[in-house]
Amino acid sequence: MDIFEEINVKGFHDEEIDASLDLFAEIEKLKKEKNAVILAHYYQEGDIQDIADYIGDSLGLSQQAAKTDADIIVFAGVHFMAETAKILSPNKKVLLPDVKAGCSLADSCPPHLFKKFKEKYPDHLVITYVNCTAELKALSDIVCTSSNAVQIVESLPKDQKIIFGPDRNLGAWVAKKTGRDLVLWNGACMVHEIFSREKITKLKERYPDAKILAHPECEEVILETADFIGSTTGILKYATNSPAKEFIVATESGIMHQMIKDNPDKTFIPAPPNNNCACNDCPHMKRNTLEKLYLCLKNEMPEVTVPAHIIADAVKPIERMLEISANLGL
Ligand code: 13P
Ligand code: SF4
Repeated sequence: MDIFEEINVKGFHDEEIDASLDLFAEIEKLKKEKNAVILAHYYQEGDIQDIADYIGDSLGLSQQAAKTDADIIVFAGVHFMAETAKILSPNKKVLLPDVKAGCSLADSCPPHLFKKFKEKYPDHLVITYVNCTAELKALSDIVCTSSNAVQIVESLPKDQKIIFGPDRNLGAWVAKKTGRDLVLWNGACMVHEIFSREKITKLKERYPDAKILAHPECEEVILETADFIGSTTGILKYATNSPAKEFIVATESGIMHQMIKDNPDKTFIPAPPNNNCACNDCPHMKRNTLEKLYLCLKNEMPEVTVPAHIIADAVKPIERMLEISANLGL
């Protein structure tokens, strides 16, 4: 079978929901009946974060997906995250509330082109950011997330040649932090590339005491302005532990929900983008809604599946990442 065959996603929603239903109560009921767990990324809408059993960054979510004893995982995130959960727990049913919740970064690295790219560097090891397709993971040696990318590169011998993909901004930041010369795939996230350095600098003049927090998927010109660079969990922890009272946040808007909940006395200002939309929303993440989550749990679809031969190759680099992370206490 061709490794690049399309990954299956079964099911869609076309059902009307009775407006009088208490969706929170219904979801809780279904969760118990079906022994399901809801894993949600910080970029999900507030209601979804509030009903989730676990909210986290990509590393935390993968760790939860690997260890849960639920029969059903409802993955409130995007397609590559649900795929990763399926690869780690192939005997469980993995559901994604909206079948079209994709990722511009994953799309920026078609596996057949990456395979050719990789062939040009036969003595290189391949590290891929988890924000990529299952096929790409199957072509990799180690997977990483934004919270362990630096440590994963540093865990390899200094003379080890490395290809890093698909995010060029994360890759450039890791290269700078580790002093390694990484061969980068030229991919990027549409959300993290929209921030305007000029507008952030102006905002900083209005809020001189504000700390600038940025995700490493942002461009270097934005990262240069930041007081802290890290994954969504890292950003949240920094904001909670910092004595500062004001923060300019250069990542997707969903993170604000938890930041405000955990720090009601602090002010969080979204970093301005270089267009007129002030939302910083990921259109893929925001496809999921509480209504779709309810229908998905009720009807047990859309279900994300990954062909067995891809699971067999993709699980190794993900497990390697989890192993290195566990050894480092991440
Ligand atoms: P983390 O939550 O791992 O920082 O990832 C951010 C992201 O872009 C997920 O799509
Ligand atoms: Fe993909 Fe960027 Fe959306 Fe994350 S924020 S899911 S990397 S498009």
